[in-house]
Amino acid sequence: MTKLIILAPLSPSVRTPSQISDVTKAITDFLNIISRGPWPSTIKADMTAAIDGLDETGLRLLGSDYEDLQTFTSLPSPLPPTSIDIRPFYLRTDSPEPESCDDTDPTHTLLPLPHLSLSPLYSTLHFPNNIKSTVTSYLLNTLLLSSLGLKKEICSLNRLILLTGPPGTGKTTLALSVAQRLSEILGSGILIRIHSSSLFSKWFSESGKKVDMLFNAVKDISEDYRLAVVLVDEVESLVSSRNNESMIEDGVRGVNAVLTGLDMIKNLDGVVVICTSNLVEGSRVDEAFLSRCDGVWEVEGPGGEGVGRILRETIDELKRVNVLTVKDDDKLNSKLLEAGKRGTGKSGREIRKAVVKMWSEMGGGMGIEASDVLDALWS
Ligand SMILES: Nc1ncnc2c1ncn2[C@@H]1O[C@H](COP(=O)(O)OP(=O)(O)OP(=O)(O)O)[C@@H](O)[C@H]1O
Ligand SMILES: [Mg+2]
Repeated sequence: MTKLIILAPLSPSVRTPSQISDVTKAITDFLNIISRGPWPSTIKADMTAAIDGLDETGLRLLGSDYEDLQTFTSLPSPLPPTSIDIRPFYLRTDSPEPESCDDTDPTHTLLPLPHLSLSPLYSTLHFPNNIKSTVTSYLLNTLLLSSLGLKKEICSLNRLILLTGPPGTGKTTLALSVAQRLSEILGSGILIRIHSSSLFSKWFSESGKKVDMLFNAVKDISEDYRLAVVLVDEVESLVSSRNNESMIEDGVRGVNAVLTGLDMIKNLDGVVVICTSNLVEGSRVDEAFLSRCDGVWEVEGPGGEGVGRILRETIDELKRVNVLTVKDDDKLNSKLLEAGKRGTGKSGREIRKAVVKMWSEMGGGMGIEASDVLDALWS
């Protein structure tokens, strides 16, 4: 049976263990009451409104495969206590903190997790496959294995993954949303976002030293957290192939230092490293780096249904502020289906911008009908 995981963001006023236990009990009771009847479609909003002590960002209900549950109708009533797993956490609101490991340009930025700014990302990313839950489950499982004290010489895990794919397909957003979800499930964490470009120094022979200092900083920071997610965007700039003839000696030293650094942090149990790249083809990325990755996932475009969902989200948001109108919801849905077909193959980034761009080309202003905008898209 599906285990129901309830991610429960607590309001800052809930602090003591007894307050937290009151909130978790209220969630269980509430679930048991409403599981007797048909589950209302507004369940998330209902629960959040009904339970004192929850943050207004709302509960997230997941299946045990860490994917959001769409329907609850198959769950038994009342729910057996063993099928409910409540994970309370606080959403952080701190500003991102740029840091430098050598008192020059910032080399990395720290963001405490789970963070309010990352909260909506997971549910607004749409893929034709289950890549979100696959990557989340994979990293959670590797963290679990590490915490069991496996012998590293027998069962080797680097907790290092690579997301590849064309520009604008959501690699960085996926990495951020997975970091957020991991920290929601585990209760807290820190995001360490590496500034790849600042690591290769203009001073000859400095890069290797800078990279060493950065990995030592990652080690020090991670010691204070149960979970540290290191995000390296455009990793090809850090680990471009050493076979490349134009690579200067400093670059080779830098790549060597990254590889040594990765080997060092794999021994830190709560650390996962997520890298992204859109240049893996044609041996641009060093083979020794690729062989250290536990998993490489190709991130695809959103597919027809995903295109429709992204367009719908944009339209709903513009409707909320009265920029677009929707006279007939059924008509809009069929137009979304058609636009989804026409937009298949385009990147998520392009689709997110499409409605606003077309609205502007149609003269902008308040009150344009959303179906007319969809009709004009990619036609
Ligand atoms: N599949 C998707 N579903 C919903 N939104 C998406 C999707 N793919 C991309 N987007 C949106 O497009 C924008 C760009 O995404 P992002 O920066 O993560 O892409 P990227 O793959 O990292 O691009 P690049 O290779 O240029 O770094 C974000 O606002 C993101 O939310
Ligand atoms: Mg990116």
